[in-house]
Amino acid sequence: MRFLIIGCGYLGMAIGERLVAAGHSVTGVRRGPDVDGELAARGIGLLEGDITDRDNVRSWPEGWDVVINAVSSSRGGAEVYRQVYGNGTRHVVERYAGSGLARYIHISSTSVYGQTDGGWVDEDSATEPGTETGGVLVDTERWLLEERKVRGFPVVLLRVAGIYGPGRGHLLSQLLKGEARIQGDGSRWVNMVHRDDAARAVICVAQASEVGSVYNVVDDEPVSQGAFVSWLAQEYGKASPPMATELENSARKRGLTHKRVLNRRLRALGWELEYPTYRDGYRLGESADWN
Ligand SMILES: NC(=O)c1ccc[n+]([C@@H]2O[C@H](COP(=O)([O-])OP(=O)(O)OC[C@H]3O[C@@H](n4cnc5c(N)ncnc54)[C@H](OP(=O)(O)O)[C@@H]3O)[C@@H](O)[C@H]2O)c1
Repeated sequence: MRFLIIGCGYLGMAIGERLVAAGHSVTGVRRGPDVDGELAARGIGLLEGDITDRDNVRSWPEGWDVVINAVSSSRGGAEVYRQVYGNGTRHVVERYAGSGLARYIHISSTSVYGQTDGGWVDEDSATEPGTETGGVLVDTERWLLEERKVRGFPVVLLRVAGIYGPGRGHLLSQLLKGEARIQGDGSRWVNMVHRDDAARAVICVAQASEVGSVYNVVDDEPVSQGAFVSWLAQEYGKASPPMATELENSARKRGLTHKRVLNRRLRALGWELEYPTYRDGYRLGESADWN
C-alpha cells in the first residue's frame, strides 16, 4: 500500500519505519529537506511541502491508499494551530476528497477533553477544552466528522495523549537536571503513551478501524504527577523532588485539566502495547537519552 505521512517528525518517522519494514511504500511531508538523512535511513521518501499553503497542497501527488496527518504546531500558539490544524486540514481534505483514499488518519490530542474533576473519560465524553488551542482541535475534529457524513471522506480520528520515548521525556530530563517539581498537591493525573505504541496504534487503525471512528491513544495506567515523579526519582536514584512554589504553580494553572483517559475502544480493536504503563517505558536503561 502507499502511505503519505504529513508531518514526518517524532511520531511520523516511527510510523513510517514500521510501515516500510512491513513492505509498504511511504512518503513523508516536511517543510524542508532531509538534512540529517533521517527519512532516507528509514526508507521513507520525502515530499517537501507546507500544509498551511493551499496552492502547495494542491500540487501534491495523488494515488495514496492512506494519508496520515501527524503534523505538529512546532510549539506555536493559537494562531499557528489555526493555520496548521484548521486551514491545513481543510487543504488536505480538499486535495484528496474523491481521490480513492481508503483512510485519512487524523492525529488529534487528548487535550480536547477539558475535564477537571479527576474522573475517567472515553471517546463519548464531552469535548469542551478550556484553552483556545484545544478549541481549534475540537473544531477541526467536528469539521472532519461532518466531511465524513456529507462527502464520505474516510476519516479516522486519533486523540493521542502525551507522547514520550527515546529523546522525549520532559519530566525525567528535568529530574536528571535537578529541576523537577511536584506540582500543586501532586494529585493531577498525567496521561501518556510511548511513541512506539502510538505508532502501532496508527497502523492498527489503518488496517482495522471503521471510517468515522474516534479512538483515544493512551496507555493503560494514568498516574498522578506526584506519584510519577517520585517513581522516576526512585528508579533513577535521585532525591524526591521538592514541591513547586506558589509562584510556579500559579504560572502553570491556566487550562490545566485533571482527568483519566480510557483506551478500551482501541484495545478492543486489537491494539497491543509494548509499554502498557509508564514503568515499562521509563524503566532505567530503557533509553540512554531523555533530553
Ligand atoms: N508530542 C506530544 O506529546 C503529542 C501529544 C498529543 C498529540 N500529539 C500530536 O501528534 C502529532 C505528532 O507529534 P510529534 O511530536 O511527532 O511532532 P513533531 O516531532 O514536531 O513532528 C511534526 C512534523 O511536522 C512537520 N511540519 C511542521 N509544520 C509543518 C507544515 N506546516 N507543513 C508540513 N509539515 C510540517 C515537521 O517538520 P518541519 O518542521 O521540517 O516542517 C515535523 O516533521 C501532532 O499532530 C501532535 O499534535 C503530540
